[in-house]
Amino acid sequence: MRKNKIVRGTQIPKHIAMIMDGNGRWAKKRLLPRSVGHRNGMERMIGLMEHAFDLGVDYMTVYALSTENLKRPQDELNGLFNLIRNHFKEYMGRICARGVKLRILGDVSLLPDDVVQILRESEEETAHYDTGKGVNIALGYGARHEIVYAVNQAIERGEKVTQERFAELLYTGGLPDPDLIIRTGKEVRLSNFLLYQCAYSELYFSEKMFPEFSDKDLDRAIVEYSKRTRRFGKTDEQLTKN
Ligand code: IPE
Ligand code: IPE
Ligand code: MG
Repeated sequence: MRKNKIVRGTQIPKHIAMIMDGNGRWAKKRLLPRSVGHRNGMERMIGLMEHAFDLGVDYMTVYALSTENLKRPQDELNGLFNLIRNHFKEYMGRICARGVKLRILGDVSLLPDDVVQILRESEEETAHYDTGKGVNIALGYGARHEIVYAVNQAIERGEKVTQERFAELLYTGGLPDPDLIIRTGKEVRLSNFLLYQCAYSELYFSEKMFPEFSDKDLDRAIVEYSKRTRRFGKTDEQLTKN
């Protein structure tokens, strides 16, 4: 069922990636602990995924925890891991019940063992899905970490890689590059997210903190995306010829 209320003729991106930033500031403004911001962020993430798949998006990738975030105070990290322990299966179950395949992007060896087990079990449950719909959660993810890991994989195999082969060695191997990358939380940077894959992604920045980024805000980002001309290095004349 499509609840597509956005403008008719809007080009829906195949793959949207989101940098979910601003949970902490959202909570601070309301005099709430950061953990409440993360909890609200997680709920919003699920709502946005449901909305995106309703609109016809094929892949949603969300940046949930970076390699650099692992240096945050242990209290905050424990709160984030507890969210996974207590809610991940239920929340992701709602998304995956639509035939959406789950993939975790990142070096999970950086996460606690019991959390890794939850993530792996959830992934395995969807391993046989082949609807062409996917959700990717970047946890313990850093693009530089990913690139260096891929380089070392190639060296270990004695392989000289092409661009296509190299892309296969990344955590996102086999997935299309993101068409649209959205960052909430006012910052205008990528913070080590999908640095190889973003070469020709359209970037969209929102001043809203992630827990307040609504379905309508996602519609706005998609409408803006739809107005962009993606030239991939070519001229406008070349584009109109094809
Ligand atoms: C993003 O929100 C979520 C994570 C990085 C885990 P932040 O926690 O970075 O929120 P701000 O940027 O401090 O507001
Ligand atoms: C980026 O947010 C990482 C995630 C949203 C998971 P940060 O809050 O870590 O980014 P910086 O530190 O402001 O660049
Ligand atoms: Mg932040």
